[in-house]
Amino acid sequence: WPASAHRVDGVVHVGGTSVDALVAEHGTPLMLLDEGELRGRARRIRAAFSAVLDDPIVYYAGKALLTADVARWVTAEGLGVDVCSAGELALVRAAGVDLAHVGYHGSNKSEAELRVAVAAGIGTIVVDSELELERLTRVASEAGVRQGMRLRINVGVHASTHEFLATSHEDQKFGVPIADAPALVARIRADDVLELRGLHTHIGSQIFDGAGFAAAFDRMVALHASLLPGGPLPELNVGGGFGIAYTEADDPQPIEQIAASFAEALRAACEREGIGMPRVAIEPGRSIAGPAGVTIYRVGTIKRMELADGERVYVSVDGGMSDNPRHVLYGAQYTARVVSRSSDADAVRARVVGLHCESGDIVVDEVRLPGDVAPGDLLAVPATGAYCASLASNYNMTPRPPIVAVADGASRVLVRRETIDDLLARDAGLGGTA
Ligand code: LLP
Repeated sequence: WPASAHRVDGVVHVGGTSVDALVAEHGTPLMLLDEGELRGRARRIRAAFSAVLDDPIVYYAGKALLTADVARWVTAEGLGVDVCSAGELALVRAAGVDLAHVGYHGSNKSEAELRVAVAAGIGTIVVDSELELERLTRVASEAGVRQGMRLRINVGVHASTHEFLATSHEDQKFGVPIADAPALVARIRADDVLELRGLHTHIGSQIFDGAGFAAAFDRMVALHASLLPGGPLPELNVGGGFGIAYTEADDPQPIEQIAASFAEALRAACEREGIGMPRVAIEPGRSIAGPAGVTIYRVGTIKRMELADGERVYVSVDGGMSDNPRHVLYGAQYTARVVSRSSDADAVRARVVGLHCESGDIVVDEVRLPGDVAPGDLLAVPATGAYCASLASNYNMTPRPPIVAVADGASRVLVRRETIDDLLARDAGLGGTA
């Protein structure tokens, strides 16, 4: 829950406003974003890493959640922004973010997309493959620009997280194999077109166990050290991936502790290699946006199922896998609470499901809810700030919810609710734009 969430007379308030009032104004399903929480997390992460490392660079990974205001908030807190598509780049540009502090990721950027980014004056491009290196060299030399870039390395480390969230073991698509890096770096250095800022790796997401990070740092620092005699390599970008709490079972380390162990592991690796510390860059997304979001749903239908191991109450809400597909995709666990009233009823075993035509359309797989949970109740699912709105779809022609910022007792629409008319407008058979 965002730190600002608390109950007044049974009704939960977020950012100083009651969910009743917020729902009366904005409807359901509703994604609330606590501005103070998001900005506070950005600030705290930056402070934690700055306390233990010399002038670290912190990028916010926009893929977690990106709106114009979110981009402005994190940059106002001194962070850069990472984008990973032409659309995310267009958004930060339109929001007026200084592109010198933007990094551009992606494992399949086209030459046309690279041309747009280079012409726009983007700070760094993270090159993900040999082919992209050729493309970027061509584009930058045509533009007459010395383009800042990093080389993304597949370090061959297995992060302990869901398979789809692990991004640096051998058998996945991101980065160049660590063994290929020296030859590619030699090519980058052979001419003046690209400015190699440093190496990059990102081992995965929602990680609690630091062992994967430490193993990756050892390999990255060894590679970094082996390349130093050939030319400057000022930075080392070690990605994001810090886990957050979705349910009470999750117990993430405080960010200050993570920063301290990062610094210690990197320093030890540099000492072993006999080199000075490079400037470290990180790219957290989830740990900034995730806990700042809460999704509010209206309960529609209740079904009580008698199962072999007891009763399970199916609580259907007016959203589902279209606004939060994380359970379907990764088996992600969430929790939920009735927030529009308090109840003394005994808790029952419940499952929160959506309105979609799939039995896997589960938002919260297992949760204890008051036995008198009823149609009309408002249900809140916390920690939905990251990878929910950004992963949302229009499955079953379902319009996506709005994103509404709350702060100091006021609310403000960041992204308006999609309408069914928005969806119909794309259908050329209805006279929409072809
Ligand atoms: N940097 C790179 C290169 C990344 O690929 C990612 C996430 C991040 C940084 C930020 O990682 P974070 O700090 O947010 O863990 N849809 C999945 C998560 C996919 C993450 C992809 N890359 C989910 O809902 O769990």
